Amino acid sequence: MDKNNSTPFLELREVNKTFSLASGQVTALEHISLTIEKGELVALVGPSGSGKTTLLNIIGSLDRPSKGEVILEGIRIDMLSEEDLVHFRREKFSFIFQDAKPLRMLNVLENTLLPFNFFKPKNRNGNIKDEGIEIIKSLGLGHRIYHMPSQLSGGEIQRVAIARALITHPAMILADEPTANLDRDNRLFVIDTFRKLSKEKDIAVVFSTHDLEVANRADRIVHLKDGVFLKDEIISCNPCRV
Ligand SMILES: Nc1ncnc2c1ncn2[C@@H]1O[C@H](COP(=O)(O)OP(=O)(O)O)[C@@H](O)[C@H]1O
Ligand SMILES: [Mg+2]
Repeated sequence: MDKNNSTPFLELREVNKTFSLASGQVTALEHISLTIEKGELVALVGPSGSGKTTLLNIIGSLDRPSKGEVILEGIRIDMLSEEDLVHFRREKFSFIFQDAKPLRMLNVLENTLLPFNFFKPKNRNGNIKDEGIEIIKSLGLGHRIYHMPSQLSGGEIQRVAIARALITHPAMILADEPTANLDRDNRLFVIDTFRKLSKEKDIAVVFSTHDLEVANRADRIVHLKDGVFLKDEIISCNPCRV
């Protein structure tokens, strides 16, 4: 694969984030510098309040740093106007949240295709509905395509969130504690799916977790504490299978 090795896919330089509250300032992130390449599966690990969600939001351009730079494919995304960001975000990122609930009145396929209610896909060949069905099947939900969310288990609901994340062909998936409410089999299914996607589709996947068994199946673990980057751990058992 052709990659320009001199420009990382994503780079954070000296990112700081401070929130202003009536009671004073809260520093959520301090001096965070890191690079992430396409095809990498990165776990963000740290205790509650360590800055994981803030960092995911800044990487995904949902929030801006107070200081520092966020550079995606050579573009300073922290400097883009809100209008430019809307398009950029849709094209580059998909988000999966811990409590991502599918819309209750839409079936699995309709929930998967939901992003296209808000924008028309560019440069896409083939039938989007057929692709949605393929993605749903690839996530083991072939028997649930026309089911409603109320008929699904927690693990199946999280797979719908993954299907919805994939339909837009993102360069990067950002997932905030995507396995937090799942049993072990479903946790491992989600993380092994992320691993497969990162390798087969060359997507960068960054997710936060408290679960070390899950984190250990990533390529790298970025450890945070009190908003500070503690260490970057490369996982050697690759691909990790328990
Ligand atoms: N919108 C906000 N306003 C004020 N403080 C915030 C906000 N978001 C996060 N924080 C604070 O920033 C710190 C990091 O929070 P967060 O990124 O949510 O950590 P984590 O996801 O690791 O639990 C915490 O002290 C939190 O209270
Ligand atoms: Mg969080």
